[in-house]
Amino acid sequence: MKNIDKHSLGNAYHLFESGAIDKIEIGTTKGLQQIHHYLFDKLYDFAGQIRTKNISKGGFRFANALYLSEILVKIEQLPEHTFEDIIAKYVEMNIAHPFMDGNGRSMRIWLDMLLKSKLKKVVNWQFVDKTLYLQAMERSPINPLEIKTLLSANLTKDINNREIIFKGIEQSYYYEGYENEDYDE
Ligand SMILES: Nc1ncnc2c1ncn2[C@@H]1O[C@H](COP(=O)(O)OP(=O)(O)OP(=O)(O)O)[C@@H](O)[C@H]1O
Ligand SMILES: [Mg+2]
Repeated sequence: MKNIDKHSLGNAYHLFESGAIDKIEIGTTKGLQQIHHYLFDKLYDFAGQIRTKNISKGGFRFANALYLSEILVKIEQLPEHTFEDIIAKYVEMNIAHPFMDGNGRSMRIWLDMLLKSKLKKVVNWQFVDKTLYLQAMERSPINPLEIKTLLSANLTKDINNREIIFKGIEQSYYYEGYENEDYDE
């Protein structure tokens, strides 16, 4: 693991250990920016900041930077009553990909906070296979069924279990480094 990612992993542990996570807005763009800032402060100069360049991954081009701020306003207004709603919202936020890097790691925490507050459940990421997860995310803009099925099979009601939370964070950082970004401009 790169040094920067080790530092960020430490920040992610601290986000939960310190209780700072409980002060973060749930389901909003601002909340996602707060998480990103916490994970990448002093590591990336764009920590917590919405990108102004276009990016793509595995041939998929994420939302155009020109319209990103308007898209993010729409996404945060999407419903979040059911599991289906929440995953649909997560898929849309992934299509937006608001940061230059670190979207996956900050968004998985953002997703868990939504599931926790609305459904009293979280994803047990330690059991979500890396390859299956990344394939399902790649497919999700076209067909969100795979990611819904994968995550619904790995929900837990044990929402305050430290081991589940910390193993989940480790797994999330293990997903990182799968593929390099291609930048435009
Ligand atoms: N081809 C793709 N199309 C759509 N979404 C993708 C694709 N590949 C990966 N993703 C999603 O984007 C995330 C990666 O985004 P980004 O590199 O900004 O985040 P990260 O936290 O640095 O890395 P990550 O995998 O690498 O944790 C993945 O975790 C996955 O959720
Ligand atoms: Mg990355």
